Amino acid sequence: MAEWPRPAMAHRSALAMTHSARALAAILVDNVVAKGRSLSQLFDEYADELAAMPNKERSLTKALTHGALRHYPRWRVIIDEACDKRLKRSETLVRALLAVGLYQLLESRVPPHAAISETVNAARQLDKPWACSLLNAVLRRVQREPHTIQAWLRKTPWAMLDLPQWLWTLWKRSWPKHIQLLASGSNSQAPMTVRVNRQKTTREHYCRVLADAGIAAQPHPVAPDALVLRDPVEVNRLPGFYEGLASVQDAAAQLAGLAVAPQPEMRILDACAAPGGKTAHILEICPEAVVNAVDSDPIRLKKVEENLRRIGAKATLIRGDACHPDSWWDGQPFDVVLLDAPCSATGVIRRHPDIKLLRRLSDVTAVAATQKSMLQSLWPLVRPGGRLIYATCAVTTQENEVQIQKFIDLTPDARAVPLPWTDPSPLPTAIGWQCYPGWQFMDGFYYAALHKQTMPDTP
Ligand SMILES: C[S@@+](CC[C@H](N)C(=O)[O-])C[C@H]1O[C@@H](n2cnc3c(N)ncnc32)[C@H](O)[C@@H]1O
Repeated sequence: MAEWPRPAMAHRSALAMTHSARALAAILVDNVVAKGRSLSQLFDEYADELAAMPNKERSLTKALTHGALRHYPRWRVIIDEACDKRLKRSETLVRALLAVGLYQLLESRVPPHAAISETVNAARQLDKPWACSLLNAVLRRVQREPHTIQAWLRKTPWAMLDLPQWLWTLWKRSWPKHIQLLASGSNSQAPMTVRVNRQKTTREHYCRVLADAGIAAQPHPVAPDALVLRDPVEVNRLPGFYEGLASVQDAAAQLAGLAVAPQPEMRILDACAAPGGKTAHILEICPEAVVNAVDSDPIRLKKVEENLRRIGAKATLIRGDACHPDSWWDGQPFDVVLLDAPCSATGVIRRHPDIKLLRRLSDVTAVAATQKSMLQSLWPLVRPGGRLIYATCAVTTQENEVQIQKFIDLTPDARAVPLPWTDPSPLPTAIGWQCYPGWQFMDGFYYAALHKQTMPDTP
């Protein structure tokens, strides 16, 4: 059996639960908002405490944390207006607790009396008894005065859509007609999608296996190996997961395998490969393809190894910098280079709502410079007649169509060619294919395929 790390159970019974769901959610939200920490790291850090909670309490903690962060742009406006000068900026934990309370009151099915009283109780637990009356007053006012809240929010159209101002500005400029779709897609909960390993089973058969296990799923309309689950489940409940029958991967990410279109003996470079979702899919489509998987992060590269071992596939794994192939490339050109570039991740906010709080406009500019350098450094590795597939989970023109257009303008032997699926780009784009989060259950993703001409065109 593959040595996939199974969830650790050892500490569960040993640890006593120390915080209520509301209190722990507030701690997590505060760490993201005030200390700039990433939620996935925090969930790892608090794994023991979460594991010690009863299932319902653990799910509630995660739902409250995600919900408070997902709608934080709105909560920030309400907290500032409602608290006026009564709450110091430095009281970040109380602000986080208010966000948790507002989420329960305005976006969840928690009965209002429970939302208010449990949030107030959490303040005591967090050693903030002085904040109880403030929390009580603000939450009750929000409940009583919906028109006042609307009037506050109308002054900040980005907060009204639960977007950070910089992202609202970018999206409004690039896709003014789609701003509502972009916002509602980013604010919704993402479905769990699995990729069925076509070397081990078929999608139809695995769908029946899931149904027998009480897991309802439907085939994805665009990605041929994808099944969309009606409700998310723990990964260890997926039948045959440890034997490599299925992997968790968004349907948009699964289009990379189609774009690469691997063939036996085809030499493929997966240039930013970790944790290996796309490498694995390429090898499930065609195990005889010769894949080199490069990533600069040794810890993440280890994940590629684990993922490939679990599905029973082989690739050459290389720790290397995609901007400096001279330090790791053996000089043999590739038929296809997949560049799944590091990006702003603005297409996966629905899975990682902390991105709204952690990213800035300057991050988009910085990452676009890295992508440009990667494109330029990797293009010489493509053989004449070969292709480079460019992908990001970003929804910004700077990282996508503008990036690719500039690259083509500077690169005489690069031509954009169509992608192999027939659906037109869900968001208008001059070059490539850009979907928004929520389109056909997918994350926001961008793809472009570039063909290397055998000879530069003569003018
Ligand atoms: C979008 S993720 C790749 C996801 C992966 N393709 C998959 O499907 O599982 C981007 C990856 O780029 C890697 N990366 C960032 N800078 C890099 C560089 N200069 N050279 C190589 N890899 C880099 C990161 O470590 C990260 O694993």
